[in-house]
Amino acid sequence: MDINRLIVSAINARANSYAPYSHYLVGAALLCADGSIVTGSNIENASYGATVCAERSAVFSAVSAGIRDFSAIAIAGGAENEELSDYAFPCGMCRQVLREFTDPASFRVIVAISPEKYKEFTLEELLPESFGPDKLKEDH
Ligand code: THU
Repeated sequence: MDINRLIVSAINARANSYAPYSHYLVGAALLCADGSIVTGSNIENASYGATVCAERSAVFSAVSAGIRDFSAIAIAGGAENEELSDYAFPCGMCRQVLREFTDPASFRVIVAISPEKYKEFTLEELLPESFGPDKLKEDH
């Protein structure tokens, strides 16, 4: 996997963040099975609860385009007008949404400050003992 390319895509996706309330800009980039990358950014709302995180934007964008097979996501987040300096971990809701479409044991979550400075986890490490679609698969 070209981690470098994925991280650069996440950092670039931050430019499309709409965050007039928190001024915290996040970009995410999903690596899809065919090698393509689908990005997302956080999109806030005057009704704060309607805000969508960058990770979910990326997942919903990919799924809406008919892509459900991903192997990794890179995430870059930090305050507006500041250099990226800290790792932005996905919130609980985004971890659960990623869980819906991935194998938590192998799906990789990369939190990045730059292409040289990043940390990598499996989704299972960030969301252990998770609840997923397999629990609901029954014959009706
Ligand atoms: N945010 C994300 O985009 N991803 C996360 O996993 C955590 C939080 C966004 C939501 C909101 O626009 C801003 O960061 C501050 O919470």
